[in-house]
Amino acid sequence: MTAPVEVRIVGVGMGPQHVTPEAAAALAGCDYALAVAKGEHDPLLAVRQAVCAAHGVELVVVPDPERDRSPGLDRPAYEAAVAAWYAARLAAYRSVLEERGGTCAFLVWGDPSLYDGTVRIVRELGVAFDVLPGISAPQLLAARHRVVLHEVGQPVHVTTARRLRTDVASGQRNLVVMLTSGVDLDGLEDWSIWWGANLGGAGERVVAGRVGDVAGEIAAAREDARAEAGWVMDLFLLRGPADGAA
Ligand SMILES: C[S@@+](CC[C@H](N)C(=O)[O-])C[C@H]1O[C@@H](n2cnc3c(N)ncnc32)[C@H](O)[C@@H]1O
Repeated sequence: MTAPVEVRIVGVGMGPQHVTPEAAAALAGCDYALAVAKGEHDPLLAVRQAVCAAHGVELVVVPDPERDRSPGLDRPAYEAAVAAWYAARLAAYRSVLEERGGTCAFLVWGDPSLYDGTVRIVRELGVAFDVLPGISAPQLLAARHRVVLHEVGQPVHVTTARRLRTDVASGQRNLVVMLTSGVDLDGLEDWSIWWGANLGGAGERVVAGRVGDVAGEIAAAREDARAEAGWVMDLFLLRGPADGAA
């Protein structure tokens, strides 16, 4: 970096209502904020703009580099596509920081500790940084359903939809599942689910019950959320039956 640069990675939850006083103070002390936009009409960009407007910070938008998302990619091809996309994103951030210098806030959806690459990317940039936590989607899910994510003294396994079947087969019985693209739970009809879409934003929906009883309701609610907001993001807590039957 040519100019001295400091980065503050700020978790902003799902919007201005989730910005903590600590995050607000960090934003107020930044020279500008940086966020990636996925495609021309990134619906989540408006949320970041609202956060910046609320705290008087200029938002610099970096278009997210294209990534090969072909469904048929095998593991090496998938990993190569992610690596290329990652390198392009790194270069885009580097160029903004070099040009502007100063203190930059990286706005992160939810909390930076969960399924977000910002900490890794900023570490690779080799600049000084700190992290301000935000409200994550699993926290909101638990709050909306008024549940605890695990039973008393028991663990919770946080995973992705891509890994769900493997994790269940390996014995996990209490899982928070993120990065979903629809809920396919064939064979798990007797499990319990607490599902939520677009939590904290337009189109919010929640459904809970026995998987076999509510799967149809979830599919319909997911489409309602998408129709209302123009986008959908969902996750769920999935728990095996108490008697141990799969
Ligand atoms: C890339 S991860 C980012 C998670 C984020 N860092 C967090 O702390 O929640 C995106 C996934 O989080 C979940 N997610 C994020 N925001 C959500 C929301 N408002 N409602 C429901 N699920 C959400 C979905 O599973 C989505 O696929």
